[in-house]
Amino acid sequence: MALSPPDDRPVVVLGVCGGIAAYKAVEVCRLLSDAGCYVAPILTESATQFITPLTFSALASEPAQTSLYGERHPSPHTRLGRMADLVVVAPATANLLARLVSGQSDDLLTATLSATTATVLVAPAMHTEMWEQSSVQANVAILRERGVVVIDPESGRLAGGDVGAGRLADPASIAQVVLSHLGPTGAVARDLVGVKITISAGGTREAIDPVRYLSNRSSGKQGYALAEAAIARGADVTLVTAARLQLSPIARAATTVINVDSAQQMGDAISAAAEQADVVIMAAAVADFRPVGSSATKLTKDLGIPTLLLEETTDILASLVQRRRTGQVIVGFAAETHDIASRAAAKLARKGCDLLVVNDVSQPEVGFDHETNAVTIMGKDGEVDQVPLSAKSTVAHAVLDRVARLLSQRSQERNHHV
Ligand code: CTP
Repeated sequence: MALSPPDDRPVVVLGVCGGIAAYKAVEVCRLLSDAGCYVAPILTESATQFITPLTFSALASEPAQTSLYGERHPSPHTRLGRMADLVVVAPATANLLARLVSGQSDDLLTATLSATTATVLVAPAMHTEMWEQSSVQANVAILRERGVVVIDPESGRLAGGDVGAGRLADPASIAQVVLSHLGPTGAVARDLVGVKITISAGGTREAIDPVRYLSNRSSGKQGYALAEAAIARGADVTLVTAARLQLSPIARAATTVINVDSAQQMGDAISAAAEQADVVIMAAAVADFRPVGSSATKLTKDLGIPTLLLEETTDILASLVQRRRTGQVIVGFAAETHDIASRAAAKLARKGCDLLVVNDVSQPEVGFDHETNAVTIMGKDGEVDQVPLSAKSTVAHAVLDRVARLLSQRSQERNHHV
């Protein structure tokens, strides 16, 4: 159980190691405090060679600590480890990574890392030769395997004027990754570790000729929010997208992104990915119709006004349901403008998916291109959840809550039959 911090803010323990990038951790501390986190900094002894605890104390929620001994609390590492919703180490030196792998606990930071069950993030920073060293890469791989989130360093200017990979990720990106792991209401459950999820996003484009296409108003934001949320919960994500949005640095590093344009391309990519997937979420607005035989050359005005003949595209969701792997969870989306409840219930039955996420896009601030969404999540099992107007990340987590429940029910059923 987490010890209560003085209020109900999510608690971030910020570990700072000794390296030239230690000064950038001050900005991480400030950004997290400004974002509403309770920040408790720990500096290693070497970190204090680069920056003073007082600098952090001025910006954090409690004084920075540097030692296992002489603090006001008799056992500072267990206090910090228990109250943490998340521990982020930025910068993390090669030495810290090695000590974390081997479970050492001879200073306050490593002892706190040993004493916590919270999500751990590390943002390594070091010279290129050190970063590329096989021992360091092996340690990074072990940490990733154990569920530690590694925020990869960037390429750029390093200490002493060198240039290469190993520079600490941008403080704003680090803060963003921390916040995405905390989620909208505090700590995010790591309940999808190792689960393979394929997510589709965006509105497909159906070519009329080389310069024109038919599409729809979907922005892809809900699909990307699902990918971010699934990564934060530990899933392996394949994002098949007709939109070209930016994922956060951590999600970008952890997600397989397949860019597509047309419904046909999306169908091909989804079918291939679905063969390995435990979960498929069709958040994309797939075109229902496409022009019959798009023109290989531009339709110019001198040819006269063209008549567009349309044909139906393949229903990807329906074909996924037909070829469903045992235990696979399939989620559909439905954008409706009228007769919502009855159309949604009919669609759920017709498509045969496990969950249907229904949004009434006639409402203001709902669905297409908005930052917010309001949905009803309907289950084949009859369970219905209403998610009121919220950020798309909140909707994403609500959908994943239901997915996680279905996966655990199915694994219990499987164990029961064994
Ligand atoms: N979908 C799909 N392939 C298509 C069309 C839609 O996989 N060719 C998926 C969407 O990704 C979504 C779900 O089906 O998850 C519902 O899409 P929607 O457009 O609301 O439903 P339609 O089947 O097009 O039904 P209707 O036109 O009656 O609304």
